[in-house]
Amino acid sequence: MGLWISLRAVSLNNDQMAGYLDRIGAGKILLDRTPLSYDWIPSTLVGRDDALSQLASIFSQISNPSISCKSVVTGPVGSGKTVLTQVFSNDLKRHLDGKRKIIHTHVNCRNHPSGSQVLQQIALSLDERHPERGLSPGEVIQSIRRFLNARDAHMLLVLDEVDVMIRRDSSDIIYRLLRIDEGKDESGTISIILVSQDPSLLRLFEPAIISRLGASNRVDLGPYNEAELRDIALQRSEASCLKGSVGDDVISKVARYASNTGDARMVIELLEAAVIRAEGEGRSNVLVHDVRPSEMRSSSLEPNLVDDLPDHQKLILLGICRRLKKVDTISSGDALKLYHVVCEEFGHKPRGYTTFWKHMKSLETMGMIESRTDSATKGRGRTQHITMSNMAPGVLESRLSSVLLIE
Ligand SMILES: Nc1ncnc2c1ncn2[C@@H]1O[C@H](COP(=O)(O)OP(=O)(O)O)[C@@H](O)[C@H]1O
Ligand SMILES: [Mg+2]
Repeated sequence: MGLWISLRAVSLNNDQMAGYLDRIGAGKILLDRTPLSYDWIPSTLVGRDDALSQLASIFSQISNPSISCKSVVTGPVGSGKTVLTQVFSNDLKRHLDGKRKIIHTHVNCRNHPSGSQVLQQIALSLDERHPERGLSPGEVIQSIRRFLNARDAHMLLVLDEVDVMIRRDSSDIIYRLLRIDEGKDESGTISIILVSQDPSLLRLFEPAIISRLGASNRVDLGPYNEAELRDIALQRSEASCLKGSVGDDVISKVARYASNTGDARMVIELLEAAVIRAEGEGRSNVLVHDVRPSEMRSSSLEPNLVDDLPDHQKLILLGICRRLKKVDTISSGDALKLYHVVCEEFGHKPRGYTTFWKHMKSLETMGMIESRTDSATKGRGRTQHITMSNMAPGVLESRLSSVLLIE
C-alpha cells in the first residue's frame, strides 16, 4: 500500500513537473526581471531633483581642470544615496564629455572595510593588474595620482557606506586622499563624495578633515513619502512587466506598506515578490493579495530575530504567539487584551492604544505577522485579523519568554 502511494506520488509529480515547465518562458507578466534588482539604475530618479541640483551646485566649478570638489551625502537605508551618486556621476561624465575626462570609481566600504582595501579597490579600478601587496598607503596613493595625471584624467571617487571604514580604521585614508595634491605641482586630481547612513558622519572626522570637506557641501536625503514610493513602484513595474499586468491598486498597496519606513528597497522587494507569486500561479496579472509584506523575508526569519525587538513589541508578539499556537488567526482586539495580560505577567506597564498600533505595524513591516481587515467588520473601527505564516508561533513563544525573563 505504502509503495503504491509513493509510486503514484511520483507519477503525479511528473505531471505537475511538465505543467511547471510550461510556465518557463511564458512570461505572462514579466518582460524583464532586471529592473526588479537593486542594481538596476533608472534613467530618471523619482523626487530627487533638489538633491541632484544641490550636487550640481557643489560641483559647479568641476569643468575647470585644476578644481576638485567634495561632498557628503547622508540619508537612511533605501533613501537612494547610492543610486543618486551613480546617476549624478554618469550625468556629470556625459556633461563634461570633451571638456574634462572623468573616471568614476565607486567603492562600497561595507564590502571593503579596511582603509588599505579601499585604496586597493581604487587602484584596481584604474589598473586591474595593480599589485595586491607590498605598497604602503602613501605609495598606493601616489601611484593613483601618477596614473590619473599621466592620462589627464580626473577621478570622481564615491566612498559608499564610508562610516564602516572610518569606524574600523579611522579617517586617515580620507585625509590622505583629500591631500593627494598637496606638496605637488598639481591640483584637481580627485573629487570625493562620501556617502553614509549616519547623519552625524562629520562628527567622526577631525577638524582638519571637516575644514577640507567644507560644511556647506552636505546633501541630506530624507525617507520617501508614499507618493514618491508609488512613483518608484510604478517606474519599476513599467520597466519590468507587461502593460496592464500590474494594477494601480497593487502599486498603491506596495507604496502603503513601504511608507512605514520610506525605504525604496522595500518597494522593490514587495513588488518583485508579488510578481513572482502571480507568475508562479500562472496568472497574467498581479492582484492586491499578491502583495504580502511577510513572505519577502520568509527565508531569513530566524527566531533570534526577536531578541533585538523593543520590549513592548516582544510583549505584544508573545501574546499573539500564545494564541496562534492554538488557532489560525487572532483579532486585533484579542491581541490587545493578550498584550495586557502578558504585561502584567512580566511586570510592565502596558502602552497606550496608539503605541500598540505602531508596534503592530512595525511587526508587520518586519514580516513577523500579517494582517488583513475583515470586510464584515469594516466601518466598526480597525478590527484586523492577524496571522503568522513565516514563523512557528510555538518556537517564537519560548524564545520570547526566555529573553523577556532574562531582561
Ligand atoms: N529616487 C529614486 N528613483 C528611483 N529608484 C530609486 C530611487 N531611490 C532609490 N531607488 C531604488 O531603490 C533601491 C535602493 O536605493 P539605494 O540607492 O540603494 O538606497 P541607499 O543607498 O540609500 O540605501 C535601488 O534599487 C534604487 O535604484
Ligand atoms: Mg547604498
